Amino acid sequence: MTKRVYLETIGCQMNVLDSELIASSLVQAGYELVDSPRNADTILYNTCSVRQHAEDKIYSALGRLRPLKERKPQTIIGVLGCMAQKDQELIFRRAGHVDLVIGPGQLSRLPEILEEVASQRHREPRLEVSLDRMKERRALVEESFAKFDPPRPPELRSSPFQAMVRIMFGCDKFCTYCIVPKVRGPEQSRPAAEIVSEIRCLAADGCQEVTLLGQTVNSYEDPSKGQTQRLSDLLARLHDIEGLRRIKFVTNYPRHMTDDLLQAVRDLPKVSPYLHVPAQSGSNEQLKRMKRGYTVEYYREMIERIRSIIPGAAITSDFIVGFCGETEEDFQQSVDLVRWARFKNSFIFKYSERPGTKAAGTLPDDVPDEVKRRRNNDLLAVQNAISLEDTLPLVGKDLEVLVEGPSKAAKKRASVGNEIVQLVGRSVWDHIVVFDGPRALVGQILPVRIEKADAFTLFGTMPRLKG
Ligand code: 5AD
Ligand code: SF4
Repeated sequence: MTKRVYLETIGCQMNVLDSELIASSLVQAGYELVDSPRNADTILYNTCSVRQHAEDKIYSALGRLRPLKERKPQTIIGVLGCMAQKDQELIFRRAGHVDLVIGPGQLSRLPEILEEVASQRHREPRLEVSLDRMKERRALVEESFAKFDPPRPPELRSSPFQAMVRIMFGCDKFCTYCIVPKVRGPEQSRPAAEIVSEIRCLAADGCQEVTLLGQTVNSYEDPSKGQTQRLSDLLARLHDIEGLRRIKFVTNYPRHMTDDLLQAVRDLPKVSPYLHVPAQSGSNEQLKRMKRGYTVEYYREMIERIRSIIPGAAITSDFIVGFCGETEEDFQQSVDLVRWARFKNSFIFKYSERPGTKAAGTLPDDVPDEVKRRRNNDLLAVQNAISLEDTLPLVGKDLEVLVEGPSKAAKKRASVGNEIVQLVGRSVWDHIVVFDGPRALVGQILPVRIEKADAFTLFGTMPRLKG
């Protein structure tokens, strides 16, 4: 029986969460997690297909496994998640040594599928994916994306004090550039009662902070039609959970940034005043081509509404540069929007055409790569300057920080007991704060005095530790 599994994750927070859930279900089924493919009998990649670059990385990682598979043909190699749903049999054609291709809607059956594959004498490539939503009835497609949110022990989360909790599956927005609605399936909210009871258990286990996940998290609607109808109601219910201290939620869709939600963020002290609301572009022409469903005037009005209801809120955004037909003028309008909105941070992506999307079928990918690269760098430079202008005034102030753990550098160094190490934590506005302190502070919320800042990291000291 093959029982040692190596699991690598590429992609967004939703994938990181899926991997935690996969790891939990495999550990429960008797697997041991190992940290190198060389030590494993089962090698799994939980994949992303939002941009070509992510897929290229996965195919080259699979290519590197060829010699290992030749040496140890019994090794099971599996491709899970978004790229599995998107490429399906193509994966077997491009990487003949892959044994399993399992979409995001089949992950709950992974232990059982692995068991079956391991016991087969002559292995056939195994493909388990959900129905194509362009070809089948919605109810059938929804059913084919099976829900997967099993309980998980704290040691399998990235931190025992923090947890991601899915509140919605899939997406119905069909932005023309985006593959997500196809690979993650129709939008479906989880029943509020289920979410509340999951978070109660997490809090009882010592979890301090939850991040609610959904592709358009603010379109949440309780399917059980109980009293908890919208995200604002859900936040109010979660706020009552004893032991829980911070609640965040990502990613927001601009059209659903309603006043009741903003008021909930303002009125519920445990809810962080941090909102990720991707704009994608500052040009109405581009927003229309992207089928985002709003104009830049609407988006600006929404930002003003956020700022007037939640003074001091940290707002972050995503932008795509070089989308089909983007002129220099369109791009300048994205620059203007970044300057005007003063986002705390923006994630900027070069447009990557995704086969299977509306844009790939109808709009030419006509912005040359060097232009995309230049626009990416230019927009990033504008954003970085704004981020720095926002972090510098924090120097000299105390910020409440949830201590997440030792920094990467500190993790590399061997350390014992409760010695002073470099720690990393986050403010309620999602600033990353680095400071020295005893390891036992991990999981606590405490004030840190900011001494130095760059655009993305604040460096501080604990007031109590200062001489
Ligand atoms: N090309 C580039 N960026 C993309 N995103 C989504 N699809 C694409 C694509 N085809 C970006 C969007 C989204 C973020 C998660 O990824 O900005 O908000
Ligand atoms: Fe993709 Fe648009 Fe859905 Fe976001 S809202 S996941 S960008 S289709």
